[in-house]
Amino acid sequence: MLNVIICGAPGCGKGTQSAMIVERYNLKHLSTGDLLRHEIESNSELGKEADSYISKGNLVPDSMIIDILTQAIDADANGNGIILDGFPRTVAQAEALENMLAGRNKQIDFFLSIEVEKRELISRLLKRGETSGRSDDNLETIKKRLDVYESKTAPVNMFYQNTGKLKKINGMGTIDEIFARIGAVLDSK
Ligand code: AP5
Ligand code: MG
Repeated sequence: MLNVIICGAPGCGKGTQSAMIVERYNLKHLSTGDLLRHEIESNSELGKEADSYISKGNLVPDSMIIDILTQAIDADANGNGIILDGFPRTVAQAEALENMLAGRNKQIDFFLSIEVEKRELISRLLKRGETSGRSDDNLETIKKRLDVYESKTAPVNMFYQNTGKLKKINGMGTIDEIFARIGAVLDSK
């Protein structure tokens, strides 16, 4: 079993690289952003509440996302492993995840932090915003998301550094170059 977290600032390539990792390692991809956008598209009460945070570039409350994630992990309890994309995003989420996995005799193998220069992040997200339809892909909200990443999510790196699981990945370059760097880490297990 291989359980991986892929983290990093908005636009660093979490979704893009997750799709390739899933293919090669046969893992279940759990993206909290995708799960929330699915709720928004289906116009559920949860989706309406979530969009009031997402469209402003804020994180949704920890309690909301921890419940969603726990259900998703339990729904795939017997697979080859999971890749968590965009979760945990706060230290409280990391602590909840670790407690939840420990109670199920599971653990995270690697915490991949994809590192990309800010200018490149903004350029990738503005380009995607031309076609994505995402309520958060506009310059004002992108800047807010980057600030929230620095204040709330970057401390999660320290949490995993202390467990020895943090692997920093250079996220500049082509998609294939970055995937090769990730593969070198995952194959070391
Ligand atoms: P989420 O959906 O996780 O968005 P994000 O972190 O802002 O990241 P993105 O999905 O925008 O980027 P990505 O890193 O996946 O990059 P991608 O591969 O798409 O979260 C959205 C919102 O939901 C949050 O703001 C929050 O409100 C809420 N939320 C989600 N999880 C939460 C949680 N745990 N707690 C609380 N709230 C939560 O790539 C970006 C673009 O760049 C694409 O167009 C891609 O084609 C392109 N690209 C990728 N790699 C390259 C490359 N190497 N070179 C050039 N272009 C590239
Ligand atoms: Mg994504």
